[in-house]
Amino acid sequence: MASPLDVFRDGALAGHVALVTGGGTGICRGIAAAYARLGADVAITSRKQDVLEAAAAELAQATGRAVLPVAADVRDPDAIGRAVRATIERFGKLDTLVNGAAGNFLAPAAALSPNGFRTVIDIDLNGTFNASRAAFEALQQSGAGLVLNISATLHYHGTPLQIHASAAKAGVDAVTRNLAVEWGRFGIRVCGIAPGPIADTEGMRRLAPGELGAKARAAIPAGRFGEIDEIAAAAVFLRSPAAAYISGHVLVVDGGHCVATPPLGALL
Ligand code: COA
Repeated sequence: MASPLDVFRDGALAGHVALVTGGGTGICRGIAAAYARLGADVAITSRKQDVLEAAAAELAQATGRAVLPVAADVRDPDAIGRAVRATIERFGKLDTLVNGAAGNFLAPAAALSPNGFRTVIDIDLNGTFNASRAAFEALQQSGAGLVLNISATLHYHGTPLQIHASAAKAGVDAVTRNLAVEWGRFGIRVCGIAPGPIADTEGMRRLAPGELGAKARAAIPAGRFGEIDEIAAAAVFLRSPAAAYISGHVLVVDGGHCVATPPLGALL
């Protein structure tokens, strides 16, 4: 079956090394698969070693390349530091960090506990900083380093039941811009991707079940949910030399969803 990734030549990412947090499942697993398919050496990390090992085995079978599974919670700076070092020990360097680890659930602000709010900020926002900070020296040594932050479009409007994730992703976009400014001089680009509703992901199953999903689909100008490979294709482009002059930018990949009227909030 045709894939958006077919436009990239075989071996386009040969010689690259990437670490993908949250790479065991969903969109970030798709990014890891795309990078490996195009010749990169890839490590994936998440909290659960068993999920990671199963994903790495499947990715290796699908792409013909060994994928390194390294368990780490991005909330723990020491753990993500160990994951960065394990990646370098295995593959010799690190060129790309994809910050994809995220946690989310639907909760009304008035019922959300402070710990619930803090937990999502800690995974999405603090985790993005922790991993970026841990990878900085290796990305600098790469000479063509990239931090690619997986964001969202939630915070472009007030999105009900998502105050925690919206605040976290707004912070992630700030991190993208700030690091782009600070780290450009070290040869590191910092970009983001803001996916819209993407089919066959845990996020869509959990956050837009049933009728809510149907309403969300109706609000997408493209008339459909996105595909994981469409996000992966954006991640390949941003990693490629074709994007060598792009930094500090968050690329929205959502079929026009976030610029449509009405936004998701008006549908509830
Ligand atoms: N609604 C409201 N609050 C919730 C919640 C929900 N669905 N899920 C978790 N929380 C709250 C908990 O109640 C807890 O707060 P409390 O101590 O005041 O009760 C706080 O968040 C931490 O939850 P806990 O489960 O202990 O944290 P964790 O670190 O084990 O996991 C998540 C946090 C966000 C990762 C967890 O909800 C989860 O596993 N989600 C599924 C995976 C996921 O989010 N994938 C991404 C989909 S986009």
